[in-house]
Amino acid sequence: MKRYIQDLSTCIGEEVTLQGWVYNKRESKALIFLILRDGSGIVQCIIAQDDIGENSFAEVSSLGLESSVRITGKVVEDTRQHGGVELHVNAVEVIQNVADYPISKKEHGIEFLMDNRHLWLRSRRQWAIMRVRNTIIFAIHRFFQKEGFVQMDAPIFTGNACEGTTDLFETDFYGRPAYLSQSGQLYGEAMAMAMGKIYTFGPTFRSEKSKTRRHLSEFWMIEPEMAYYDIFDNMDLIEDFIKAVVQAVLAENKDELEILERDVEALEKACGEFIRLNYDDAVAIIKGEKDVDGKTTIETLKADIADREAEKSELEADIEERQALLDKGGMKKGKVAYHQSTIDKNKQRIKQIEEDLRNLPQWIESAENFKYGSDFGGSDETVLTRMFDVPVMVYDWPHAVKAFYLKRNPEHPEFARGVDLLAPEGYGEIVGGGERETNEEWLKEKIIEHELPMSEFEWYLDLRRFGSVPHAGFGLGLERLVAWICKLSHVRETIPFPRMYGRLEP
Ligand code: 4AD
Ligand code: MG
Repeated sequence: MKRYIQDLSTCIGEEVTLQGWVYNKRESKALIFLILRDGSGIVQCIIAQDDIGENSFAEVSSLGLESSVRITGKVVEDTRQHGGVELHVNAVEVIQNVADYPISKKEHGIEFLMDNRHLWLRSRRQWAIMRVRNTIIFAIHRFFQKEGFVQMDAPIFTGNACEGTTDLFETDFYGRPAYLSQSGQLYGEAMAMAMGKIYTFGPTFRSEKSKTRRHLSEFWMIEPEMAYYDIFDNMDLIEDFIKAVVQAVLAENKDELEILERDVEALEKACGEFIRLNYDDAVAIIKGEKDVDGKTTIETLKADIADREAEKSELEADIEERQALLDKGGMKKGKVAYHQSTIDKNKQRIKQIEEDLRNLPQWIESAENFKYGSDFGGSDETVLTRMFDVPVMVYDWPHAVKAFYLKRNPEHPEFARGVDLLAPEGYGEIVGGGERETNEEWLKEKIIEHELPMSEFEWYLDLRRFGSVPHAGFGLGLERLVAWICKLSHVRETIPFPRMYGRLEP
């Protein structure tokens, strides 16, 4: 019977046929240990020459990585194996024997892997990331559907800019310029007035002409928009929503998080009560003028430097010790390999520490010199979130640095009622949103100030003319959420085929 690897623990003792690809292989004289992957998981297949015959055994022995095969055998319980089972094989049908699969087990450079993204997706880590992404997508729909939101699709071709004019992708729409959507929000606002609560889930485009670890040119955004919500209702929703998604991954992707070596405890901690700070308080903390639990950012970062330096010397001493043992010689092969791999791991960690030691003094300097009134840069976000285990929501921003559509705080009109959610562990902004301006005159002023074409916004202004109500919403960048949950150093691994500055292929 044809089966998927993920279901094997329920068919112990049965004879099954698996269809997949050779993930790994090692052999001794009359036995081959073949690791098969089929997309649902991996399993060890034990192939004995006596069981499949000399010819078939020779053929299997010749299989290269990623050869495609159909394997029939008996499912046997083995608690030492991943998934608790292995397969004792009695027949192998080769679909294609592959020689020289380009991605080997040895280390490849990132550009090589990106060029081979269409193949790289088969590797264990990438497989795990894509499964987490899938869980997140499903959890997002589940959350909003349960809360009574209606999913809507916003247009991709648009005549207006939602998030500023600097990063628009222009296309030709029957002879007139159109832009690929930067955000579905404005259309979401219209639909919220029709449906009450909606969310979009679609691709968005921004021409970001720089290479950073958190910018894509094409990314997926989830944008809920709610009638009769103010900024505080909005923050409650952001918090419930993010927690629900993180908890879904913790519950459903234990194996994947393990493959990714994700520190699960940090994710669990992140599900505590989120921090809410207005801009003024957030700035005071960044600059070290206000402490958090008795410590300032500057003290904390200086302590981080001292900790990293101490860790580095410990690692260096450890390497020296192991190297001396290796140099002496006469050690068993297994022991040599163990010491060598520990040395390699330590060296990797030292590289990371050295990067931190380059960054930390710069962060301290830019935190101390932060100019009140400006937007946060990546390092400001890192410095602020360093002080907490949970995400931080910063609200009430100087209106000059935020989007045109944000409502002014009626008591302090110099602030706009925007909110950013900053993820912990150095990830920074993953959500941006806020309460929307309802005052038609103020909105028009902002449209002019941002040099946007008024005619393209007439329909949007209609929403303030016909049954205008307080309303709010936010946008979550899917790839940034995946990067944080999987603890990846770059968003390029969070989407099957990333589009970013300098990368259109594959
Ligand atoms: O903060 P942004 O620009 O907000 C908006 O677009 C609003 N219209 C959302 C709303 O209120 N409905 O973008 C929202 C989120 C960011 O917090 C970030 O997570 C993600 O979208 N994002 C990007 N992700 C990857 N690459 C980029 N170039 C991104 N730009 C924004
Ligand atoms: Mg933003």
